[in-house]
Amino acid sequence: MSPQKSALGVYIHWPYCARICPYCDFNVVRDRGRTEQKRALTAAILADLKGHAALTGPRDLVSIFFGGGTPSLMDPDDVARIIEVARGLWTPAGAVEVSLEANPTDAEASRFSALERAGVNRLSLGMQSLDDRALGFLGRDHDAGAARRAIDVAGGVFARLSVDLIYALPGQALDDWARELETVASLGPDHISPYQLTIEPGAAFHRAVLRGTLVPVDADLGADFYEITQAVLETVGFEAYEVSNHARGVQARSRHNLIYWRGEDYAGVGPGAHGRLTLAGERFATTTPDAIGDYIDRVSREGTGSRNQQLDAREVALERLLMGMRTVEGAPMAAMAALKLSKARLSTLKGLVVIADGRLVATRSGRPVLDRVLAELTSG
Ligand SMILES: C[S@@+](CC[C@H](N)C(=O)[O-])C[C@H]1O[C@@H](n2cnc3c(N)ncnc32)[C@H](O)[C@@H]1O
Ligand code: SF4
Repeated sequence: MSPQKSALGVYIHWPYCARICPYCDFNVVRDRGRTEQKRALTAAILADLKGHAALTGPRDLVSIFFGGGTPSLMDPDDVARIIEVARGLWTPAGAVEVSLEANPTDAEASRFSALERAGVNRLSLGMQSLDDRALGFLGRDHDAGAARRAIDVAGGVFARLSVDLIYALPGQALDDWARELETVASLGPDHISPYQLTIEPGAAFHRAVLRGTLVPVDADLGADFYEITQAVLETVGFEAYEVSNHARGVQARSRHNLIYWRGEDYAGVGPGAHGRLTLAGERFATTTPDAIGDYIDRVSREGTGSRNQQLDAREVALERLLMGMRTVEGAPMAAMAALKLSKARLSTLKGLVVIADGRLVATRSGRPVLDRVLAELTSG
């Protein structure tokens, strides 16, 4: 048997969106045709994958994730080529999880079968809501009917299906949200990611808050929304294995996201993609240029879009803490030695964190107040 190589995930960023949602601050641009640019970007992504493979050497490929932007707008042939090239550059480890983020419009649902034939086996559907008023407020270009049709099509096509939702919207009632969650769960996804609406600096909603035309829900109500989300999803059989991620059983957990939360390696490819790579025993944060043209230029000049910055022991340990504590797995104490977490400090967080099997884990009461827990653990 060949020796096991360390695991690798691949993140591909596809930045185009049919329109820009007012809450979103991801690295996105309006899709205005741009056929030539998309062709050049796909070529750059393929070249960048090769550049990354030259850097990493042999690895076990466990996951490929097409994120955006809106990768469901990609040409399925390009998706297939990217998957094929990644599978050729590294060693596929069993059934590689291949996820793709999709918006639930009828036009995109009609392409789900082609995306599945291209090699996608897990769809992450950006449903956001099943309420037409909420979808209007969020500036989405689909209504609840289209979202239901899309989940129906996706359920028949993909082996695994995740749904993104946004909650704690101004004026939203807790009861309505609870019912909506139950309905979404009954539509058959094996994974649900409900995100509390955050007002991101730079997004249109932020400007609306500054103008006083949008008033976000306050922290207490936000906490009530979080609690009801946990309770409803647990009742209908979804385990909260991470702060905002709920799975119907261990097999339904996102292998790709687990890479982030466990501090494993992933190559970040495409404009504005981030990565983490362990090279010759040192850990590096990788970044690529946000602008599509700059990314394409850099790949053609340097063979990769990434610049790599070495992380020191404390930075590595801090990332393990911040990411690991989001999950039910927690983070290994041994990997956080550089943080010198003292018994005295941990004891001030009694009931909020525990050490079990050498891992620091946030308890059920600790996870809703994770920001406070992490601030306390990392202060001074
Ligand atoms: C960057 S989007 C990409 C997926 C796809 N384009 C879509 O919109 O469905 C990934 C997810 O992040 C979440 N998201 C983005 N901005 C958010 C915000 N300000 N507050 C809460 N959730 C947000 C949404 O649920 C969205 O589905
Ligand atoms: S939420 Fe999705 S569709 Fe909307 S702008 Fe962001 S990436 Fe694009």
